[in-house]
Amino acid sequence: MEFRTDFLIIGSGIAGLSLAIKAAGLGSVAIVTKKEKSESNTNYAQGGIAAVTDKTDSFEEHINDTLICGGGLCHKDVVDFVVKEAPPRVKELVEWGVEFTTSEDSPQSYDLGREGGHSRRRVLHAKDLTGREIERALHEKVASLKNVTIYENHISIDLVLANDAQGRTINCLGAYVLDIDADIIHTFRAKYTILSTGGAGKVYLITTNPDIATGDGVAMAYRAGAQIANMEFIQFHPTCLFHPAAKSFLISEAVRGEGGILKLKNGATFMEKYHQMQSLAPRDVVAKAIDTEIKKSGDEYVLLDITHRDRDFLQNRFPNIYEKCLEFGIDIAVDPIPVAPAAHYICGGVAVDHFGKTSIDNLFACGEVSCTGLHGANRLASNSLLEALVYSHRIFIKINKSFRQTELSTIAIPPWDPGGAVESDDSIVVTNNWDEIRRCMWNYVGIVRSNKRLERAQRRIDLIQKEINEYYWNYKVTKDLIELRNITTVAKLIVQSCLLRKESRGLHHNIDYPETLKEFEKDTIIEKV
Ligand code: SIN
Repeated sequence: MEFRTDFLIIGSGIAGLSLAIKAAGLGSVAIVTKKEKSESNTNYAQGGIAAVTDKTDSFEEHINDTLICGGGLCHKDVVDFVVKEAPPRVKELVEWGVEFTTSEDSPQSYDLGREGGHSRRRVLHAKDLTGREIERALHEKVASLKNVTIYENHISIDLVLANDAQGRTINCLGAYVLDIDADIIHTFRAKYTILSTGGAGKVYLITTNPDIATGDGVAMAYRAGAQIANMEFIQFHPTCLFHPAAKSFLISEAVRGEGGILKLKNGATFMEKYHQMQSLAPRDVVAKAIDTEIKKSGDEYVLLDITHRDRDFLQNRFPNIYEKCLEFGIDIAVDPIPVAPAAHYICGGVAVDHFGKTSIDNLFACGEVSCTGLHGANRLASNSLLEALVYSHRIFIKINKSFRQTELSTIAIPPWDPGGAVESDDSIVVTNNWDEIRRCMWNYVGIVRSNKRLERAQRRIDLIQKEINEYYWNYKVTKDLIELRNITTVAKLIVQSCLLRKESRGLHHNIDYPETLKEFEKDTIIEKV
């Protein structure tokens, strides 16, 4: 079946939903999401949104903290407008019903959190459940809009493209989408297609991300011929709960913002050896320091100690973390929390201009799937929800200008061709390959890299990719197969980008090239040939 819509938004996190709310004022909006509508990376965000809202703070300081964290690769113009456009975007969220935690002393002002790399408190939060609160409010708002239809349990397979006479992609016409429950592939034809598919943490064995984070948007955009940037910059969150039964539960950086101190298992502190901001140093520094200490001691984790804060404070400020840790027998008011790094955020993604447009016409991207130039080589904590809001607004501004003059394309789109594909009787192949890629990325393309490890990863991923391609065209597509194909593409792009950057900078640390070099003070751009 062919669906027709003005806006096809793929993904239902903060980026997609905030754009949908605005786009609904112009025309029809279809939101495609591969799980239930509120399952997104946004939903798991604990920290919050960095924005200058306090009189004693300044744009200059927020800009400066972002630039320092970004290791010389942030686009200064982007940092400037994102930081300055933050207050109106936050105000809009509040008007849509998001309830940020207010200060106990003065309920008129926000209780601002502090996180790594920030020189002061500026993170708006809803206790430690900020993402969940944002998703709640945005979904309520979207539900009140007649023009928006949400397609749950629908996964995009590939973008539909129009090519010129030379076979070059000139335009995006929409996407092929699998209705997972009905097992039918539909065509969604759209004036504008927006990728807001979130991150790709599932490329790694250990990640703070939910299962949906399989890099679908980056993989689809790459296959379509769009430019992909800076995929070597994978942010490892320093403090993921280390417990055999806890599935990568994040211990927010805000815990360190409220005084949490990193310690070795024997109780000794160590961050003073690595940075003057100690436990609140930028994330790349803290993750690398923990990795070094763990390798040195042979322990599997370090400790995060917040036991000097009183129980009432901890229960009120971190209700989610407090309860979750208790479930695992850790009383954070008494016991230091065992933590270890985990893949958390991809600073690279689909390259976009200042208005979220990709290198393909009518194809836009916002949120973690995109690479805007804001994060450079290392994202400042809590700048990502902000980036999603600013860019979804900018996409709206751009489209609003041309919307009335743009017609829905009438080019014939062939329905999805399953070829001779049959039902697979060997799904163990998918499970094994999935596992192998994630282990390979964790072991060879982690916090500290080397040429040898990267080359080893490249050889293995090439092999797996060949196998998947054969499998892909011989068997009927399923959600698992689509996701496996996507994580393999993303893994390949990460390794390729790591090999191109022959230096160490921000989140990319290669022991064979320990120096930071002027000649690499530029983005890594990859395009399908
Ligand atoms: C956290 O709460 O530590 C995560 C916030 C972020 O990734 O920006």
